[in-house]
This record gives sequence, C-alpha cells and structure tokens, in this order.
Amino acid sequence: MQTFQGSAPGKVILLGEHAVVYGRPAIAVPVWETTATAVITDSEPRRGVTIVARDLGQEFPLVTSAGAEEHPFSRVARLTLERLHLPLNLDWRIALTSTIPIASGLGSGAALSAALVRAIFAKAGEPAEPTVVSALVYESERYFHGTPSGIDNTVIAYGAPVWFVKGAPPQIFTPCRPFTLVIADSGIASPTKETVGDVRQAWQKQPNHFEAIFDEISQIAEQARHIIEQTGHLSKLGQLFNENQCLLAALGVSSQMLEKLLAAARRAGALGAKLSGGGRGGNIIALVEDAAADEVRSALLQAGAKQVIVTRVA
Ligand code: PMV
Repeated sequence: MQTFQGSAPGKVILLGEHAVVYGRPAIAVPVWETTATAVITDSEPRRGVTIVARDLGQEFPLVTSAGAEEHPFSRVARLTLERLHLPLNLDWRIALTSTIPIASGLGSGAALSAALVRAIFAKAGEPAEPTVVSALVYESERYFHGTPSGIDNTVIAYGAPVWFVKGAPPQIFTPCRPFTLVIADSGIASPTKETVGDVRQAWQKQPNHFEAIFDEISQIAEQARHIIEQTGHLSKLGQLFNENQCLLAALGVSSQMLEKLLAAARRAGALGAKLSGGGRGGNIIALVEDAAADEVRSALLQAGAKQVIVTRVA
C-alpha cells in the first residue's frame, strides 16, 4: 500500500518568551533530535478521514458538519484539505506519532500539526511552503493556547533558527558557529495558557513595570542574535541566558523545580541556563561547551529531570 509521510522537528525558545506576546523579539531554534511524523494510508471505503494519535491513544474523525466540536488536529486537516481544494470525504487514515515530550514547551502539538499538513501536501503531490505550513499550524495553535504569538508554528515550519516579532515576517538566520544545548524536562506540565494569562493580569495592574521588563528582555534578545550570528562568544551568550531567566522569574513564570534544575546545570559547568517556553513546568535549556555536555546531562538527571536531550544548533 502506498503511504505519504510528513514530519517536523521539536523546538525550544532560546530567549524572549512572554515578552514576544507584547511585540518584543524572540529567538527559537528547531530540535531535530525529536520529531513528529504523520503517515497517510488509504482506509476502508466510506470510513472518511480518521486521524489516529497513537501516543495519545486517541482517534479524531474529520468534522465535516458545521457547528460540531473539532479537535485541533481535525481542524488543521480540514483547513489543509480546503486549501488544496480537496474534498473532505476522502477515505484516509492519518497516523500521528511523535518522540517530542508532550506539554513541555518543545512544541509537540505544533510539530504534529506541521507533520499532518506536510503529509496531506505530499499525498496531493504539492510542495508545502514553510509560510503556508506555518499559517495552517497557527490555526491549531490557537486551539491549544488561546492567543499564541506564532513563534512555535514559525520555527517548526521553517526548521531553522528564527528571529520572531509578532506581526512581522520571520527572519531565518544562521549561527556563525554551532553551539550545544542541554534540554531538561522538569516532568511538570507547562501550563502555557495559564502563565500567559497570569502575566497579562499582572501587566494590566502594573503596565509600566512589566513594559520595562519586556524592554530588558528585548535588549537581551538583540544582543544574543548579534553573538549567535556575528561573534560566537558563547560565554557571553550564557550570561544572557541567566539574565533572561532572572527577568522571567520577575514575571512570575519560574518555579522551585525549574530553579533547582537551573542551579544544577550551572553548578555542573553550563555557561548559562534558563527556562524555555511558558514556564512553571516544562523544560529548561542550558548552554554548554561540548566537553561539559555529559556532566551537565548527568547533573540534571540527578536533580530530578525526567528526560534530557542534547541538541546541536548549527
Ligand atoms: O510553552 P511554549 O513553548 O508553547 O511557548 C510559549 C511561549 C510564550 O511566549 C510564553 C507564548 C507565546 O505565544 O509566544
């Protein structure tokens, strides 16, 4: 039986989360060590399109009647079929699998949606341009997160380091030298919708204070881009990770467990470390010299990390 496949990487936000919701720049990179995959096969006649998320143990039929409740994956599949002018009553089985940890800030939902879009484009024999994939995935992100800035769908669709400002075309850029990140999962789900909502409430109460924090984060992102693109001065980049982390803590999105992991990474020789994504749970990222990666990895596992991924950003 012929199959059609799409895949997409995980991602981490390097710097600028939360401030990006308020129009400041953020930097995100793909994590190719984890991937999401969608495979389309023909199903029995008159079964319609069924999306099978094996890791979640769930199946989602394509919703073809107006007003019915739609899972984000069904929605993104329907929008993709409509975009390609394909009928909605096809007999397809779309199997989704992923090695990306769920609800941990590595973009598992966006990556599964991107894989799904790419598989449908492959089946239709059409090239899937990153801008189109990104826009379609954004629609599923809105269901997962409420009011996402759009950074996750962008970095996952482009599969490259991205400089992201809400509402502006994303800028893809290349590091002047590769660098290594150790990514550690706290094992606590990251409630992005909740942390974004809490930051908004706090910002509404003290707009000047929070705008000043966002401005500081913005300057850190600017400096970091210069280092990544131009100088490759990693110890300075590590300091910027630490500074960004202090500001994220001031926004109220860090937690005891995250701080414990960050301290362990720094003690083991990381050049700098910070939470990544929505915060409170999810992942931390530590910037390391290659020689220190194993030590930092072990220290993080010992401090209670549930999973550690080492990725090279090139
Ligand atoms: O939790 P994640 O990795 O999906 O990232 C959320 C990033 C925020 O800046 C907190 C929200 C957003 O929409 O950009």
